[in-house]
Amino acid sequence: MNQNLGQNHFIFDGCDTVELAGQYGTPLYVVSEAMIKNKCREIKEDFLSKYNNTRAVYASKAFLNLEMCKLITCEGLGLDVVSGGELYTALKAGVPMENIIFHGNNKSQDELKMAVSNDVGRIVVDNGYELDRLNQITEEHNKTADILFRITPGIDADTHKFISTGQVDSKFGIPMHNNMLYDYVVKSQNMKRINLRGFHFHVGSQLLNNDAHLNALEVLLLLIRGLKDKLGFVTSEVNLGGGFGICYTEEDEQRNIRYFTDPMMGKIFDYCQRYVLSIPQVIIEPGRWIVGEAGITLYSVGAMKEIPGVRTYVSVDGGMPDNPRPSLYNAKYKAVIANKYDKKRDKTVTVAGKCCESGDILIEDLKVPAVESGDILAVMSTGAYNDSMSSNYNKLPKPAVVMVNKGESRVIVRRETYDDLIARDI
Ligand code: LLP
Repeated sequence: MNQNLGQNHFIFDGCDTVELAGQYGTPLYVVSEAMIKNKCREIKEDFLSKYNNTRAVYASKAFLNLEMCKLITCEGLGLDVVSGGELYTALKAGVPMENIIFHGNNKSQDELKMAVSNDVGRIVVDNGYELDRLNQITEEHNKTADILFRITPGIDADTHKFISTGQVDSKFGIPMHNNMLYDYVVKSQNMKRINLRGFHFHVGSQLLNNDAHLNALEVLLLLIRGLKDKLGFVTSEVNLGGGFGICYTEEDEQRNIRYFTDPMMGKIFDYCQRYVLSIPQVIIEPGRWIVGEAGITLYSVGAMKEIPGVRTYVSVDGGMPDNPRPSLYNAKYKAVIANKYDKKRDKTVTVAGKCCESGDILIEDLKVPAVESGDILAVMSTGAYNDSMSSNYNKLPKPAVVMVNKGESRVIVRRETYDDLIARDI
């Protein structure tokens, strides 16, 4: 336990972040085990224990490594994977395969084989082409596959265009037009190794209101009723995706899990009762909501430049390669000078990364105390889609990931070396 927490220092899950930067170097991803566990426990208390026949899986694309797989499994959640690589990581970590849900709009033949031969819990079939491939693979492997169809509910979500997925014009899922879904349901029923359990939608990501989820659910419930009436098909599972938003800045309103799940469960109960439908198992798959706020990134401040009457640039030792979200989605972040945490923030600066790219700006117009080279900047809410979307642009080695828990810290992913950067070159 750290007894000498520095004065004026930013403390994260009991650890002095300035000491962490000194001990492990920067840039550094820091994730809080306690905060991740708290989120999982909130899901358990307010969703899994509150409602019968429910499941929660963690969308591993948000942040994935062996330790995270173990933590999520210990907390009783399953894992959503979207590639052979994510599935491989889960396999190596010993995640029980029945806890896995395999997504993706273009799973390769090899990925489908890997899923089928390892008996993953559910394969979410995104299109007709995939249904045929999967059927063939199950025959060849003498296996069965439990599947859900991903539907495109035709709902616009209130988020950045790049992370909106439920609208009609989307690469994901089966459109609700021309009875296409009915045809696939009939087709799958005639495939003796394919076991259709139900349907999935994912409407978008970083949603701070529940409108899109509720609208999509309405479309799904109508489909379930139609399938029962017309084909006698009983839906036993619905997977309502993830997308629950978190706080990045003061403008974002904190949402608990109940804000999303209670109205959805209410709608399912009411509808099923009204139309005498059996209540399906309900699955949610949050990614960002579980890890986003549990992660921060520490940087060292290097060069600074004041352009009189224009702005002051403060450059840090990472940037776009460890956090592509500002340049991709215009994402906004909060940050503090970790070694001057209690000092008055009366200056305005723009935080730039170190890449050879004008767009490599992490935060515009950040309020800070007087900054100096050597200060440590802590950027908040970087736990989701930062490490997982990081690159080696400009041949920058990827940061280490340190897990902290009530004053203790340990490396869970080591920092890349220059040799790692050329390890695949021939
Ligand atoms: N389920 C499915 C099928 C998904 O496609 C996703 C995310 C999730 C669950 C989890 O969504 P979450 O709860 O994390 O919002 N790179 C973007 C986010 C892309 C999300 C893609 N799918 C970002 O950095 O904002």
